[in-house]
Amino acid sequence: PVQRTLSIIKPDAVGKNVIGDIIRRFEENGLSVIAAKMVHLSAVEAGGFYAVHAARPFFADLCAFISSGPVLVLVLEGKNAVPLNRQLMGATNPKEAEAGTIRADHADSIDSNAVHGSDSEENAAIEISYFFSDLDLHSRG
Ligand code: CMP
Repeated sequence: PVQRTLSIIKPDAVGKNVIGDIIRRFEENGLSVIAAKMVHLSAVEAGGFYAVHAARPFFADLCAFISSGPVLVLVLEGKNAVPLNRQLMGATNPKEAEAGTIRADHADSIDSNAVHGSDSEENAAIEISYFFSDLDLHSRG
């Protein structure tokens, strides 16, 4: 099925100037960018986005990192976009990420791991609505 997913190119990857490389991987694998914006989240906005992780021990570090610099927030659309994006990203911990994945090539650690991607269609809808209204989504489908 055609799905939508939220992708965030995190401050580490923005700082390394690899935005283009990451988007190229999405496009070459059948995903289309249907919305995009660069934002520098506040700590409060970061906490709202990662609310599902609020009870986790790494929550404070996670919010500090994602709000440490500008990020590029994308909505990707395509066949099986949610699992496909996760496959292209590789494992959360770059040490476990398969060769050739975004995290294997660009991530430094489990915290500084280049990209975020929604883990389910349900969470994708929640995450997309955190950043975009329906009018911001330019579906090609
Ligand atoms: P992300 O996909 O953005 O979702 C939550 C983030 O928490 C994750 O990527 C990691 O960067 C970060 N994180 C730090 N420690 C852990 C951990 N032990 N398990 C999962 N995520 C972690």
